[in-house]
Amino acid sequence: MKLCGKKYLITGASSGLGLAIVKQLSHIKGTKITAVARNIKPLEKMQEVFSLSLDVAKPENIEQMINSAMNHMGGIDCIIACAGFGYYERFENQDYGHIERIFQTNVLSPLYTLEYFLAKTSSKIAFVSISSMLGKFGLPGMALYSATKYALDGFQNSYLHEKPKRLHYMTVYPIGLKTSFWERIATDIPLPRPLQTANTAAIAILMGLRQNKQTVYTSPPSKLALLANNLLPIFVPAYQYINKLRFNRWEERRKYAEMLGAGVGCSPCVADVSADSLGENDFC
Ligand SMILES: NC(=O)c1ccc[n+]([C@@H]2O[C@H](COP(=O)([O-])OP(=O)(O)OC[C@H]3O[C@@H](n4cnc5c(N)ncnc54)[C@H](OP(=O)(O)O)[C@@H]3O)[C@@H](O)[C@H]2O)c1
Repeated sequence: MKLCGKKYLITGASSGLGLAIVKQLSHIKGTKITAVARNIKPLEKMQEVFSLSLDVAKPENIEQMINSAMNHMGGIDCIIACAGFGYYERFENQDYGHIERIFQTNVLSPLYTLEYFLAKTSSKIAFVSISSMLGKFGLPGMALYSATKYALDGFQNSYLHEKPKRLHYMTVYPIGLKTSFWERIATDIPLPRPLQTANTAAIAILMGLRQNKQTVYTSPPSKLALLANNLLPIFVPAYQYINKLRFNRWEERRKYAEMLGAGVGCSPCVADVSADSLGENDFC
């Protein structure tokens, strides 16, 4: 679809990938943007953006979000559902609420957003779902997170064959991103390698949307690696093994730090959304 002159609703827009997408879209001619997150302070300086503070894990808030955005912008052409979070842990908490919280935000929220959006409009629309490479293979310490991203992948696999023609549905598989996603999970997490900037991923997503793609790998080598692994399944198991060692070491460090009665240090991730920008006529 042409990106210029369209009305967008972006969730998870206060940081990382969502914020990078908002910034890129705001450079494109004639766009109207509604940006959603719980903490909308980072969006306050962007006067051209209508920001909404709400928790997308609640169905009544999803309805309010779509109704407010439609009233404010006079409709919605495209929703990009970026809100999401992760856990890094061994799966042993025996805490139902813990499981429920991540599925509510990462799975139920985008799916209900799509359903409600479809019901509210009969025009041609687009919906972008943010999965992850961890929706294609799992890593130790991220079983629950991975389960939520596999759920989105499974959904699209069926849904693409039944969706209405007026809907363009696109699923995105980012690799690890340099965002506050990791800091929010826990301290001193062994970050995945390689890491991509949120800005680079945002541009890949908008290019995919412009080209009407159904799936977007924000890093083309990651798609090649998956293909190579299908032919010779050694790459993913090797990566999983390395990450098992890193996870075990992280757990040991954490236990040691707890024994000493001190928190382990936090390795800072820099959210880089300010690098290259799109011109206002790009993608028109
Ligand atoms: N970072 C990675 O390595 C990576 C890799 C692959 C896929 N992804 C996916 O990419 C998406 C964006 O992640 P990111 O890296 O940009 O993380 P991030 O910087 O932590 O941003 C997450 C965004 O989601 C919002 N959010 C979370 N829970 C919410 C809720 N209940 N209601 C409303 N907003 C909520 C946060 O805002 P508030 O806290 O202000 O509400 C924030 O704006 C996520 O779906 C993530 O799973 C990330």
